[in-house]
Amino acid sequence: MDAIEVLKTRRSIRAYTREPVPRKIIEDVVDCGRLAATAINIQPWEFVVVTDPELLRSIAQTTDHGKFIADAPVCVVVLCRDTKYYLEDGSAATENILLAARGHGLGACCVAGDKKPYAAEICRLVGAPQGFKLVSLISIGYPAESPEKTKRPLSDVLHWEEY
Ligand SMILES: Cc1cc2nc3c(=O)[nH]c(=O)nc-3n(C[C@H](O)[C@H](O)[C@H](O)COP(=O)(O)O)c2cc1C
Repeated sequence: MDAIEVLKTRRSIRAYTREPVPRKIIEDVVDCGRLAATAINIQPWEFVVVTDPELLRSIAQTTDHGKFIADAPVCVVVLCRDTKYYLEDGSAATENILLAARGHGLGACCVAGDKKPYAAEICRLVGAPQGFKLVSLISIGYPAESPEKTKRPLSDVLHWEEY
């Protein structure tokens, strides 16, 4: 799959098969997060890969709209040091991970972290040091669904020269 096809066919996948995801592939997906654009190249991120079923369940139960994490083989917890652009940087890394997962034939879904009341509890669960922010939780696995999603047409959102 080329990059444009990956971009245009990515969808949020919340149901996964039981097939385990090879460690090398998880590492490559996280590596793509590591390479994301980041303001003044500060790279404030750390990525915690969770595969332990009990910890996955605890994370899932802590969230409001991420209960499906309990049934994912992998959850990547995206943390950032509390820098000026941590949210933009962490979001760029998150999107890279979502796209890399798609490129490897995996399904993934971003679950909100920043601003959520459960952010501190997730940080505690994964042992994040003081001063780190939870940006996102990314569930990953081989897809067991292929949802369609209606998107606003290009003609609605593209403005040449002025709005
Ligand atoms: C910042 C952010 C937070 C999100 N939080 C959740 C969430 O808590 N639970 C969930 O199921 N999906 C979550 N999503 C996924 C969105 O629901 C999904 O991207 C949106 O419906 C568009 O669908 P698509 O990703 O298939 O294009 C989140 C996405 C983003 C970007």
